[in-house]
Amino acid sequence: MHTIAIIGAMTEEVALIAKSLNDVEHDTGASLDVSRGTLTAASGETIAVVATVGGMGLVNAAATTQRLIDGYRPDAVIFTGIAGNLNPNLHVNDVVLGGTLRYLDTDMRLVGQWKPGTEAEPVTEFHSDDHLLAIAGEALNDMGITHITGIIATGNYFVEGDELTRKVVHDTGADAVEMEGAAVAHVAARNDVPALVIRALSDNADTEYEVFREFDISEYADTAARLAIDIVKRL
Ligand code: ADE
Repeated sequence: MHTIAIIGAMTEEVALIAKSLNDVEHDTGASLDVSRGTLTAASGETIAVVATVGGMGLVNAAATTQRLIDGYRPDAVIFTGIAGNLNPNLHVNDVVLGGTLRYLDTDMRLVGQWKPGTEAEPVTEFHSDDHLLAIAGEALNDMGITHITGIIATGNYFVEGDELTRKVVHDTGADAVEMEGAAVAHVAARNDVPALVIRALSDNADTEYEVFREFDISEYADTAARLAIDIVKRL
């Protein structure tokens, strides 16, 4: 049986997935509550799914990804959630698939000294798996959702305001900014597990965090989660 691990940072990002699983059981440990259940693929195959809220930021994302890989040996890891939009051609509730994921607050000259990558050829970015990107693209077309496969920048802080937004775009060329995707793709790459980062746009990176916190992000979180479920069913 295939196993897919699905991670979100916030409760809203995983709620719909946990609700959609059949025969759910819970595993706890390492500060995680993992919903373990199944989905039935269009082919009729039963797919095992483990889904959890990992918490915000790079360390939570990395620790959660490694925990799910070690504990469940998934065939793929999908990150689902929301992001700030940096692309003037996109709008709130459109989707950016993380074709390329770049850190925005790590000096990658240092990271490049370690595996994967060498000092001569530092790893400065990570990528979602091509096959998963293709399936996601088909699902998004069928769902009628505007989307691109683009660059996602990941950092340990919320991006708000013109100055910071310009700096992030200058440093990374990103279409969207969030706080986990590159770490998930990085850990998945170290383990040779295909990864996919899905982000529904929740804001234009122009909203103060204090204001953003009051937003109901469920609609956008559900857009990404619906896509994650649809992808699993197409596997
Ligand atoms: N997640 C959603 N919006 C974000 C933003 N503006 N910055 C960082 N992470 C986000």
